[in-house]
Amino acid sequence: MNLGIIGAGHMAQAVGRLALKAGHRVMASNSRGPRSLLGLREALGCEVGSIREAAAFGDVVFAAIPLQAYRAIPAASLAGKVVLNPQNYFPHFGRIPELENGALTTAELLARHLPQSHVVKALNSILVEDVVPDARPGGAADRRALPIAGDDGEAKQTAIGVLNEIGYDAVDAGPLAEGWRFERRRPVYCVPLDKAMLAQRLAATTRDAVMPEGHWRYQTGIRG
Ligand SMILES: NC(=O)c1ccc[n+]([C@@H]2O[C@H](COP(=O)([O-])OP(=O)(O)OC[C@H]3O[C@@H](n4cnc5c(N)ncnc54)[C@H](OP(=O)(O)O)[C@@H]3O)[C@@H](O)[C@H]2O)c1
Repeated sequence: MNLGIIGAGHMAQAVGRLALKAGHRVMASNSRGPRSLLGLREALGCEVGSIREAAAFGDVVFAAIPLQAYRAIPAASLAGKVVLNPQNYFPHFGRIPELENGALTTAELLARHLPQSHVVKALNSILVEDVVPDARPGGAADRRALPIAGDDGEAKQTAIGVLNEIGYDAVDAGPLAEGWRFERRRPVYCVPLDKAMLAQRLAATTRDAVMPEGHWRYQTGIRG
């Protein structure tokens, strides 16, 4: 598989590293152009390109830029593609009323911008510093599960396959409209959980369940 990455920052590098390790080809990109990424190409062993080139390159595309920059994600180049959306909403980077009033989930916001793509919410509910160290081979007793949401069953299967190959189980939380269940400050957000624990806690999450920022530090999950 070719993984195109819109972004070349912390999440792009962590997920890119795991995808390369799993035998995939990876192309990273940013707003400043590929010449700014020659050091990353050397360090990671990935390819680098413009954001349009990364979008065109990917069989699957990982949209790893700040949520408020979502309009920079090139819709036409992503038509028909699976787009993994890890974006979390931090209001201090710019308020978005539809996210604040619950009219849209973060993934629905991106899907509205990419009407011809298959957006899957994925890889938002893990701290970047955990992405590489928490990856485990399939079947490991302490393998972590990550939540996903999406409106297209086939795209979700693709996303589940990508997660599995980079070291994670997945739990399907339902359509994009259900993505709120694992957005920022929800009980499961960034807590290391296995598949059964995550499925149970996602189902138990209610709209009024809002945790203090950083709550994951006080929840042990599967990492004791
Ligand atoms: N950090 C975490 O723990 C974590 C965990 C889960 C999910 N996430 C989500 O993952 C996404 C990326 O987070 P991160 O921590 O990787 O951020 P980061 O380290 O700040 O990297 C952001 C990347 O996006 C690029 N970028 C910014 N604006 C852009 C634009 N308009 N067009 C193209 N590229 C642009 C930046 O490069 P240039 O500025 O050079 O363009 C940089 O490569 C965010 O949506 C975040 O919410 C983060």
